[in-house]
Amino acid sequence: MNNTHNPRVCVIGAGVAGLSSARYLKHEGINFTVLECTKYVGGTWRYDPRVGYDENGVVLHTSMYKYLRTNLPKPAMELNGFKLPEDAPSFPSWETYYEYLKSFTKHFDLERHIKFLHQVVSIRRLENMWKVKHKHVVTGEVFEEDYEYVIVGTGHHSKPHRPVIPGEDLFNGTIIHSHDYRVPDPYINRKVLVMGGGPSGMEIGLLVADVASRLVHSHHSPAPFEAHFPPHYVKKADVKEFKENGVVFVDGSFEEVDDVIYCTGYEYDYPFIDSSSQLTISTHSVIPLYKYMVNINEPSMFIMGLVVRACLVAAIDAQARYATALIKGNFTLPPKEAMMAEWQAHVDDLRAKGKRMSDIHLLANKEDEYYAELTRESGIARVPPVLFKIRNADMRAKLKNLYTYRKYVYTVIDNETFTKRLEDKNSTTNNTDM
Ligand SMILES: Cc1cc2nc3c(=O)[nH]c(=O)nc-3n(C[C@H](O)[C@H](O)[C@H](O)COP(=O)(O)OP(=O)(O)OC[C@H]3O[C@@H](n4cnc5c(N)ncnc54)[C@H](O)[C@@H]3O)c2cc1C
Ligand SMILES: *[C@@H]1O[C@H](CO)[C@@H](O)[C@H](O)[C@H]1NC(C)=O
Ligand SMILES: *[C@@H]1O[C@H](CO)[C@@H](O)[C@H](O)[C@H]1NC(C)=O
Ligand SMILES: *[C@@H]1O[C@H](CO)[C@@H](O)[C@H](O)[C@H]1NC(C)=O
Ligand SMILES: *[C@@H]1O[C@H](CO)[C@@H](O)[C@H](O)[C@H]1NC(C)=O
Ligand SMILES: *[C@@H]1O[C@H](CO)[C@@H](O)[C@H](O)[C@H]1NC(C)=O
Ligand SMILES: *[C@@H]1O[C@H](CO)[C@@H](O)[C@H](O)[C@H]1NC(C)=O
Ligand SMILES: *[C@@H]1O[C@H](CO)[C@@H](O)[C@H](O)[C@H]1NC(C)=O
Repeated sequence: MNNTHNPRVCVIGAGVAGLSSARYLKHEGINFTVLECTKYVGGTWRYDPRVGYDENGVVLHTSMYKYLRTNLPKPAMELNGFKLPEDAPSFPSWETYYEYLKSFTKHFDLERHIKFLHQVVSIRRLENMWKVKHKHVVTGEVFEEDYEYVIVGTGHHSKPHRPVIPGEDLFNGTIIHSHDYRVPDPYINRKVLVMGGGPSGMEIGLLVADVASRLVHSHHSPAPFEAHFPPHYVKKADVKEFKENGVVFVDGSFEEVDDVIYCTGYEYDYPFIDSSSQLTISTHSVIPLYKYMVNINEPSMFIMGLVVRACLVAAIDAQARYATALIKGNFTLPPKEAMMAEWQAHVDDLRAKGKRMSDIHLLANKEDEYYAELTRESGIARVPPVLFKIRNADMRAKLKNLYTYRKYVYTVIDNETFTKRLEDKNSTTNNTDM
């Protein structure tokens, strides 16, 4: 046995990305270890009422909030061939999804491969190996091991992206980022400003609007939402500056507010990756990557789940299969120059369209073609086109009405087709969002 034929793989994180990678690596009999800094699987799907740090002084990773339900229907949330419970609602709660990830771990007997409470502190490329340094977060003991491959599954919905707004210090009320939003209770009968029109801004905006006396929603999302907002919900332009008791918007108008929730997204954050990996990591992009995941300069490193506007779970699952097939030797990557040329063509295309570098991670309409490409190159089972179709149907339902899109049940008929129907009157699901 030599390393070419018995490579060792380090998987970082035991969320959806780490768990799905572990499943396939194990199936292929590849030697791997998962390092996870908490004592839990499930990553961001575990709700923790605390904010800040955990009991071991590690920054709390999870951004989950108490009344979250998935924003994609069940078929688009399932790992390959592993069903969510039949009796779970069409858009499950975080509890259901967290339980699902725990039963996935049990079913594939993955726990024995996970080193819990081990935080990766550095990965260095040296002499054709990855030197992975990790620390036991309780004892402080530091370990260093060599690996042929690293699969980075630490997610990218954890480090808050906070806007810089003049006068923030003057403001008398509370300000949090959605990373620290847990329950609506502090906002009962308050005047609340929610900033941002992405998924968090829309969902948290609606949840808080249910209890607040006034919900001021500042965003510039171009998505034409037709939601039937209540009368105390008011849409505003971007914020210009804070005053002691409220905010001034770019159109010059003023709103008195008690509390502010920044739903301004997250930043890419890989503090353990240094320059030896030859990746360029900035707040909103990680480059250059082949097929949205392979580090082109050191192609034995994979960064999982860096795609935006996709069925993220299905995409991660396919990436895990692709990475495993590569490590197994089922296929080889093109030469570095060819991968770089393909990546450069993508960059040139973005530039020509006047887009930002962060759009390099956007799949959107290219999602299904991405799955086809992964399969063509690696021979992995293809993510069926029906998932992309379901995501589009769900997107249309959201645009029509953010309050009711979760009432639809999507059922896969075959790889290409699905049905969409309103939930049964007498089903076990309660449609209340709270
Ligand atoms: C509030 C919220 C709602 C969401 N809703 C949906 C949804 O409805 N549908 C959907 O498809 N997606 C949703 N997502 C996206 C979600 O991120 C993905 O579904 C999925 O959880 C990504 O999995 P992951 O494994 O990449 O990352 P994570 O789930 O974030 O897991 C990363 C793991 O890595 C560990 N880790 C981090 N750093 C280190 C280190 N240095 N050393 C060791 N371990 C480390 C963490 O402890 C964690 O366990 C949501 C995200 C958030 C925040
Ligand atoms: C590993 O083994 C294979 C076949 O047994 C051989 O072809 C290859 O040269 C070996 N590699 C190293 C680094 O020893
Ligand atoms: C996996 O690699 C480790 C470290 O080299 C080694 O100790 C272990 O025996 C290997 N396991 C298998 C199943 O090859
Ligand atoms: C803000 O708080 C300070 C100190 O608590 C108080 O003096 C001031 O009147 C408050 N301003 C407003 C506008 O509420
Ligand atoms: C690798 O190829 C073998 C043989 O064709 C296949 O059985 C296996 O599923 C493939 N592995 C992956 C991860 O695609
Ligand atoms: C559906 O897709 C899977 C995965 O690519 C494939 O194995 C299967 O043969 C497909 N089924 C049909 C009926 O085409
Ligand atoms: C209502 O619930 C019962 C019992 O769970 C079930 O047998 C029946 O099929 C349901 N009716 C509809 C219309 O789904
Ligand atoms: C639905 O609501 C009813 C009444 O409020 C409650 O008794 C029941 O437990 C709820 N069911 C679920 C699945 O949450």
